[in-house]
Amino acid sequence: MIIFNEPLLLGTERGYLDQVLKSGYFCGNGEFFRKCEETLTGIFQAQKVLLTSSGSSALNIAAELLEIQPGDEIILPSFAHVGTVSAFALRKANLVWCDIKASTRNLAENDLEKLITKRTRAVIAVNYAGMSDNIDQVKEICRKHSLILIEDNAQGIGTVYQNQSLGSFGDLAIVSFHQTKNVHCGEGGALIINSPQFIDAAQKIRDRGTDRKEFNEGKISRWTWWMNGSNYYLSELQAAFLYAQLRQMEKVNSCRLAIFQRYNELLNEFLPEEALPFVAENCQSNGHCYSILTESEQHRNKIIDKLHKQGIQSTFHYQPLHRAPYWQGLYKTSRLPVTEKVAAVILRLPVYYDLDFIDVDAISYELAKAYSSERKD
Ligand SMILES: Cc1ncc(COP(=O)(O)O)c(C=O)c1O
Repeated sequence: MIIFNEPLLLGTERGYLDQVLKSGYFCGNGEFFRKCEETLTGIFQAQKVLLTSSGSSALNIAAELLEIQPGDEIILPSFAHVGTVSAFALRKANLVWCDIKASTRNLAENDLEKLITKRTRAVIAVNYAGMSDNIDQVKEICRKHSLILIEDNAQGIGTVYQNQSLGSFGDLAIVSFHQTKNVHCGEGGALIINSPQFIDAAQKIRDRGTDRKEFNEGKISRWTWWMNGSNYYLSELQAAFLYAQLRQMEKVNSCRLAIFQRYNELLNEFLPEEALPFVAENCQSNGHCYSILTESEQHRNKIIDKLHKQGIQSTFHYQPLHRAPYWQGLYKTSRLPVTEKVAAVILRLPVYYDLDFIDVDAISYELAKAYSSERKD
């Protein structure tokens, strides 16, 4: 069976884990933890990066920083991960869904401005598959209306748009180190802070609302509780594992990108251009995800079945959040035609570091057969 995803394991993680075991220091804010933060600050050219227990935790810190109140409006795509929205739903924000573009699955910038009201507090832009073709335009709209931009860059470690790291456009951004990501530590994430006014409060929120970090660093004589917060730290064991992988991020990303390009070369022969993944000219991908658009939901599902019979796992992607049972009746119904269409026809193919070209060729060959035999005509 060619599986859909194999979590990255480089072998170098073990040596760093041994160092932690010997050190006897296991909780947050240790040496590897600090090294990860330093490395990430470089990658994202950020004012500050806070390592967190997940991407969702980083979004929780963001929601707390913005002091989101019931009824505050947040504009965001429904074609997203539940973790993109849960911190805001938890605080009873009013989620205002914005449609996406079929090509890049990024927010439809032309729809965005129409959704802004006096109650809008923030826009969350998801860099789908870690890529963007319009984050600069979204940022400009946010600037014009004095809105906070949060970049959900969960999948986008090491990606670049217009010579600038994705994750560095939003006032705040997040990245995830869940095991499905290019580099990971099982569960993990980071909050990327590009607006310095958030740094101090964000650090306190991550540390149960306290200033214990300053106390640990010897800057104050006792620590105390200042604000709402929680424990959003990543442990030193996870940080050691992550650091081993972060050191090889460029190699991992290049390898995934080579797989992405191989699929493109092979699938280009039988798929229409608009069915292939679109990478904007000024965007550098990290090969996180390879997805195509099939002709209909039925077509897609039949291809998944056929590939499965040939020992190949493939999958759909996001189920639109505005259609999830949790939301039914909570908010006014939204019409998101592009989101609904893309969600029905999108098909994701295996991509991971150890996937070799022989497998990519076999997947492409079986896909070509299934794609043409299952289409309606
Ligand atoms: C786009 C997006 N946002 C948010 C998240 C949540 O990240 P985590 O699973 O680290 O909480 C994910 C996770 O896969 C994601 O893909």
